[in-house]
Amino acid sequence: MSASIFSKTIHVNTGKPYDVIIERGLLARSGGLIQKILPKAERAVIISDSNVAPLYADAVKTSLEAAGYTAFVHVFPAGEEHKRLTAIDGMYAAMASAELSRTDFAVALGGGVTGDMCGFAAATYLRGIPFVQIPTTVLSQNDSSVGGKTGIDLTCGKNLVGSFHQPCLVLADADTLATLPPRYITDGFGEIIKHGCIKSAELFELMETYGTDMAMIEDLTARSIAIKAGVVERDERESGERMLLNFGHTLGHAIEKCANFTGIAHGEAVGIGMLLMTRASEAAGLTVKGTAARIEAVLSKCGMPLSCDFSLEAICQAALLDKKRRGDFLNIVLLRTIGDSFVYQIPCAGLPDFVRGGVGV
Ligand SMILES: NC(=O)c1ccc[n+]([C@@H]2O[C@H](COP(=O)([O-])OP(=O)(O)OC[C@H]3O[C@@H](n4cnc5c(N)ncnc54)[C@H](O)[C@@H]3O)[C@@H](O)[C@H]2O)c1
Repeated sequence: MSASIFSKTIHVNTGKPYDVIIERGLLARSGGLIQKILPKAERAVIISDSNVAPLYADAVKTSLEAAGYTAFVHVFPAGEEHKRLTAIDGMYAAMASAELSRTDFAVALGGGVTGDMCGFAAATYLRGIPFVQIPTTVLSQNDSSVGGKTGIDLTCGKNLVGSFHQPCLVLADADTLATLPPRYITDGFGEIIKHGCIKSAELFELMETYGTDMAMIEDLTARSIAIKAGVVERDERESGERMLLNFGHTLGHAIEKCANFTGIAHGEAVGIGMLLMTRASEAAGLTVKGTAARIEAVLSKCGMPLSCDFSLEAICQAALLDKKRRGDFLNIVLLRTIGDSFVYQIPCAGLPDFVRGGVGV
């Protein structure tokens, strides 16, 4: 096999199992691949945002029609600010007007916003219909399209309404990344670095060597998805091990909140969160010395920020006010070393001191 013809299928053995296929040119073959999984379906709605639909919806629609499906396209406005119930209402209307039955399906064609929302609409329309993920960003191909977390934002917080609904197939076609704005390329690498940090020193070392070299992307995606799939298979509903996927997110999400979700991208904020937490755990003697320096170097190689404009006090306060947090203790994810992570419980009141310990102020 030539290096340019990368093809890998990862089986995700959740309650409802499915495959993730990583290969270029999948959009044009999507209909035939879905046919193998959903032979009884007749109709489909492709859900895509206003940036992605003009680029790729025709290719997917044509392929679905060639496979014998009656296919419709529903477009919603691009952007996290549209990850709201009003957009879901539009998706339900499109599914109803396409006369989807419970054996028909939806296709999420786009980034994490599209996948989370289409998945939520599919989870709830007619009390649940199948959906296929065709992720088109680095973040969604390497993380969000797998695992079955779907949902929307409320005014008072991100991802507060949602459900677990696994896709029946994921088609990750790296050809679609050619049109992705550079900022979203860099940002998506934050989640790949996270997967290396929590579970694979080898993946982290590849990032240290190659950074955001797109010649490596399919190999990185296969490794990243294998890690996520393993974690999700062992803990589908996030009662234990799946928490490790939140490495960098306690402070990262707080940084996003301090920035009012503008100006700093999710992966960038998570990168700073991983770095601050690892400096702190190194200072507390919980992490092998030099680990934070390696994370700092890899973030730097990928062109990601290493700091932000907010004080540690403001970041910790935002973390402690998180709507999803309950009780007097906080579960934070730390590294023993690169590739080896654990959940550590600290009293909420101790968070600022713990984090400050890592920056020496
Ligand atoms: N479900 C999960 O497990 C999970 C995990 C991580 C993140 N998320 C969610 O994912 C979302 C972020 O995902 P994202 O970064 O992919 O954001 P996104 O879906 O908003 O995509 C980023 C931008 O790129 C555009 N775009 C997408 N693909 C393109 C392409 N191929 N060519 C040109 N433009 C393209 C989009 O229109 C958008 O403007 C957040 O809402 C986050 O909460 C979910």
